[in-house]
Amino acid sequence: MATELIIALDVDTLDAATHAVDTCGGCIWYKAGLQLFSRTGPAIIEQLKAANKKVFLDLKLHDIPNTVKHAAQAAAGMGADLITIHACGGAKMIAAAREAVEGSQTRVLAVTVLTSINDAVLQNEVGIPASAEETVTRFAKLAVNNGAHGVVASPHEIAAIRSAVGHGPLIVTPGIRPAWASTDDQARFMTPREAALAGANFVVVGRPILKHANPTEAVALVTKELAV
Ligand code: C5P
Repeated sequence: MATELIIALDVDTLDAATHAVDTCGGCIWYKAGLQLFSRTGPAIIEQLKAANKKVFLDLKLHDIPNTVKHAAQAAAGMGADLITIHACGGAKMIAAAREAVEGSQTRVLAVTVLTSINDAVLQNEVGIPASAEETVTRFAKLAVNNGAHGVVASPHEIAAIRSAVGHGPLIVTPGIRPAWASTDDQARFMTPREAALAGANFVVVGRPILKHANPTEAVALVTKELAV
């Protein structure tokens, strides 16, 4: 299946999100994260669904299994197509999230190690005596073995994750920059084409599209690159 584009709606209001969706032409998938959902609540999901869009609700749930189960049930009930949890919540929490979405269209993605966390932070602050790369693949296996449908990962981690969990699980990657776009604060990125060739199922792109002078054209350029 071709790699699909998800546009990150990193904005503060429902109006700004609506405007972004209107200017992004035919794109189907949109990501609402903590920034937007904390402002709008379920209204953003209702609005996207009413427009026949698919929703990636990126709240990175991490709590006791029972609480995550109820939150995941609520997200599935709102119609979220993809949701995120933290793999470091452990096997029972991951399984609880999966159980919560059974019978719905919602898929559970696990965040392994945030890309803002490097080896030094992981070892000296979090207390995990392993490299970020080793931890990413360990958490990816933990997540998939306990029912997660996939993982969110840097495009640079795709190859290691595929060899750890195979080709079945979904891999969703932010950290994408087309050659024509500003890199912004993304340090280790790939182009949409590189990520597609590496085996990503979805790429998440925000500023290169939303800050483009013609977002519809930017969507078309990225979509063309993804069709490899
Ligand atoms: O604007 P940009 O394309 O950099 O947006 C990328 C999106 O993916 C943002 O919503 C950002 O928070 C998210 N993200 C990321 N890197 C990660 C995890 C999430 O850029 N490691």
